[in-house]
Amino acid sequence: MRKQIIAGNWKMNGTIASGSILIEAFNSFLSDKELNVDVVVCPPFTALERAVCLTRDKHIEVGAQNMDYHDAGAYTGEVSPLMLNEVGVTYVILGHSERREYYGEMDSMVNEKIKSAFHHNIQPIVCVGESLAQWEANETISFIHSQLDGALKDIPAEQASELIIAYEPIWAIGTGRTATADQAEEVCKSIRQYINELYNGNVADKVRIQYGGSVKADNALKILSEPNIDGALVGGASLLVDDFTSIIMAAQELSVTES
Ligand code: 13P
Repeated sequence: MRKQIIAGNWKMNGTIASGSILIEAFNSFLSDKELNVDVVVCPPFTALERAVCLTRDKHIEVGAQNMDYHDAGAYTGEVSPLMLNEVGVTYVILGHSERREYYGEMDSMVNEKIKSAFHHNIQPIVCVGESLAQWEANETISFIHSQLDGALKDIPAEQASELIIAYEPIWAIGTGRTATADQAEEVCKSIRQYINELYNGNVADKVRIQYGGSVKADNALKILSEPNIDGALVGGASLLVDDFTSIIMAAQELSVTES
């Protein structure tokens, strides 16, 4: 059985101080819980070091929201995997639709970043997802397959099986408009089937697929209950203690009922 993974993408929000308060609140909520769910928080770069300190020996891992794929050099404004290693970051979100849209990130760059993340032992969370126009034109599946072709080029099966893929329809991000559980499941299932085609059944079985896009406390259980959805990548609600902890507990409830 695949372990659920709930990750909070804080995007460009908060300060070191406010992020610390948030993490302390998560720590205190989770301190007496026996969890069978992976929990990750992804603060802005400036708050990563403090986040790693605050989560040491706790049930929370820390991820970055992006990284460069080079180890070092003349890449003004970028942060390298070695720098993330130094801080103690263990996850990285790659290819988020906001990076693709506002910073011109392409599948080929996402591909380089995945290779670099694995090389440096950082767990990549790779985002895919279609625009509203593509969704309405029924192009979702073919578009996501093309994103996967680009992102996974020359990634060997052993690494592919460790991947976390986040399906985030762009029209559902920050809009309050969620894909229904059925719609999200249909796309996540097709992602798994495509991984089966690209690799094999074993890899497809192991790869974890998250849904992201307006996941909240009140819709999490229904979405996470779907057989091909193994977690959530949460934006806005990951900045709210009650909401994020409720989403974690929804995943935990499922891990108990399924085991
Ligand atoms: P929201 O949960 O705010 O819709 O954001 C989703 C997202 O982009 C997570 O990466």
